[in-house]
Amino acid sequence: MNESERKKTALIAGAGGLLGRAMTSRLRSGWNTVALTHADLDITSREQVEAAMEKTRPDIVINCVATADVDRCEREPDWAYAVNESGPQGLGRCARLINAEIVHVSTDYVFDGEKEGFYTQADEPNPLSVYAKSKLAGERAAESENERAYIIRTSWIFGAGGKNFGSRVVELARAGAHLKGVTDQTSIPTYAPDLAARIEEIIRLGSHGLYHVTSAGVTSWYDFARLALDMSGLDHIEIEKVTRADLRQLAPRPRNSAMRCLLSERLGLAPLRHWKDALPEFLGEMKN
Ligand SMILES: NC(=O)c1ccc[n+]([C@@H]2O[C@H](COP(=O)([O-])OP(=O)(O)OC[C@H]3O[C@@H](n4cnc5c(N)ncnc54)[C@H](OP(=O)(O)O)[C@@H]3O)[C@@H](O)[C@H]2O)c1
Repeated sequence: MNESERKKTALIAGAGGLLGRAMTSRLRSGWNTVALTHADLDITSREQVEAAMEKTRPDIVINCVATADVDRCEREPDWAYAVNESGPQGLGRCARLINAEIVHVSTDYVFDGEKEGFYTQADEPNPLSVYAKSKLAGERAAESENERAYIIRTSWIFGAGGKNFGSRVVELARAGAHLKGVTDQTSIPTYAPDLAARIEEIIRLGSHGLYHVTSAGVTSWYDFARLALDMSGLDHIEIEKVTRADLRQLAPRPRNSAMRCLLSERLGLAPLRHWKDALPEFLGEMKN
């Protein structure tokens, strides 16, 4: 069997999270997939990372780990930097030592949100929060440890399960909770299975570098939530319109962080479908 016919091994860290689950499901065929949840592998533990690499000898490491609580990162910066910077640094280094590539997933929050229009790779990041600063540090750590790195910035991931903003709004509406939707923050909701499929496509292309991967369609959190409820038969449920400032959250968020990907355009990768076109599939999953 030659190298191109050999089934490659992908180690997925953070496999229990939203993207981790979508990635694991995506790579179920065509790959030997080693899906490690937080309980299986803590990426802040050097010993655990070394042992996992030694045991599984992956061709590629896919880091789907997140500190989902952006406000907690403000209160606990050491935790944020341990997971978001030291974590990918260790994964990148250990991957390099066994000649493996790395995918590291990052965020639109690396931008300050002051730009009108789309952020591209040509725009200088200016992260506002501890979460965003630690994520940017993680991008740089992963790529400085491993030159065979794919850095994938994405935005507002939604999908069934867990506590992401898409699944929460439907669950809370069904439970009769009072809902609030932010009107003055815009970005691009990105459907987790579509993101996972694009990550696989990028890996198969083998062109390392910095990508912006999102669904199509800029919107506000309020408009996303409104349409999701309307399409779920929950159009009678009200959503109170609020501003970010009304919520008095600890961590600042960028006002507009919609992104475009110059590298994908150069490689001829077609844009992902509009988030509105992914909603029916997502809402169907939410029923199961
Ligand atoms: N969700 C979004 O809207 C969004 C937007 C832009 C970028 N991103 C990025 O996308 C990536 C995936 O995010 P996601 O939404 O899939 O997050 P998620 O659903 O919160 O999943 C993250 C997973 O990481 C695990 N984890 C946390 N600390 C860990 C550690 N030290 N070692 C190993 N696993 C650990 C969590 O386990 P426990 O729950 O057990 O701690 C959880 O299963 C992240 O890089 C995130 O920054 C997300």
